[in-house]
Amino acid sequence: MADFKVTPWEVEGEVDYEKLMRDFGAQSIPREVISKLPEPILLPLRRGFFYAHRDFDKFVEDAKRGKPVSIVTGRGPSGRMHLGHILPFYTAKWFQEKMGASVLIPISDDEKYLVKRKLKIRDVEAFGRDNLIDILAVGFDPEKTRIVIDLEDTEIYRPTVIVSKRVTYSTIRAVFGLTNESNIGWVFYPAIQMVHLFLPQIIWEPQRVLVPVAIDQDPYIRVARDVAERVGLVKTAGLLSKFMPSLESPTGKMSTSGGGEEKVIWLTDDEKTVRKKIMKYAFSGGRPTVEEHRRLGGIPEIDVSFLYLLYFFEEDDRKIKEIEERYRSGEMLTGELKEYTAKKISGFLREHQRRREKVLDEGLEVVLDRYRLRDEERDKIREWGKEL
Ligand code: TRP
Repeated sequence: MADFKVTPWEVEGEVDYEKLMRDFGAQSIPREVISKLPEPILLPLRRGFFYAHRDFDKFVEDAKRGKPVSIVTGRGPSGRMHLGHILPFYTAKWFQEKMGASVLIPISDDEKYLVKRKLKIRDVEAFGRDNLIDILAVGFDPEKTRIVIDLEDTEIYRPTVIVSKRVTYSTIRAVFGLTNESNIGWVFYPAIQMVHLFLPQIIWEPQRVLVPVAIDQDPYIRVARDVAERVGLVKTAGLLSKFMPSLESPTGKMSTSGGGEEKVIWLTDDEKTVRKKIMKYAFSGGRPTVEEHRRLGGIPEIDVSFLYLLYFFEEDDRKIKEIEERYRSGEMLTGELKEYTAKKISGFLREHQRRREKVLDEGLEVVLDRYRLRDEERDKIREWGKEL
């Protein structure tokens, strides 16, 4: 296995997910927990894309008992959003609809300003607004969802001060892999994200908060768990996923950092563009020639198109089994598999884009206002932690 490196700000190399889980000290998700979830179970959960957790069982138990529970998942606005970015938000929506969870969505424009050398305040604010179009298109229930924008909702400064007093520099340096050259914003920002994870408990009441994220974000959950009970809150739970495979590698991460604009599927891509990208770039588990493919068969496990279907786009269990068998046996060729995958992705994007247009028609700021913190919630933030 080749070397790899995973921090919240950087993913390099071929990721060994089992090792990562062990290194981080998370658990694999027991089948019994999944089987307790309401049907139809979200595809990435059912098919193992979310593969590790912390206290997910306790979250499920609380939700089933009718206790208040919530989801926090956020976005660091460093550019436009692609397919991999939107998944946690559709996951949050599933938990809202099926299990009654409230949802809190932080936009960490501060984080991206601090860690991306080239970005100006103007840029992260503009990306924040652009990304909110996509996030609002997901269609959260405004009664049970709040959006917090770090550089605008400055109430979060108070709890951040309280939390930061309980986290040492050496923890942050080790957990996030900081160096002597890191600006001090990198040291402070983790306290902000810890507050994001605590916020539902502060603005509503103490409760189990679940954070569904790609495993690179686990360090934040870890440090939050260390502090939670010391500030009178329930320990944060985590639901950890693999990375959305990049088009060019089944074990890489969909990202613009290495490959560039052309090699990711943007949420605004039309059907023709999606098809072209899948055909041209999607890593194939097929054989170099048709003759060989017929004789030896394809390898679904490393085929990016197959993985997209398996984890995200083919709901039908019988159909995915059939595709897997036909591909493995050599009966199905890469071209046919890619064609099918491109159609499925375009279908999803078409629906997403339709809802996106609706947000724009109504006006982004108008829609966003429904999700802003209410006055009494802002008061709760100001009142929190006086005795700490
Ligand atoms: N740090 C995340 C990113 O880089 C964004 C984020 C901010 C987030 N706050 C969060 C994610 C809380 C999950 C939960 O994309």
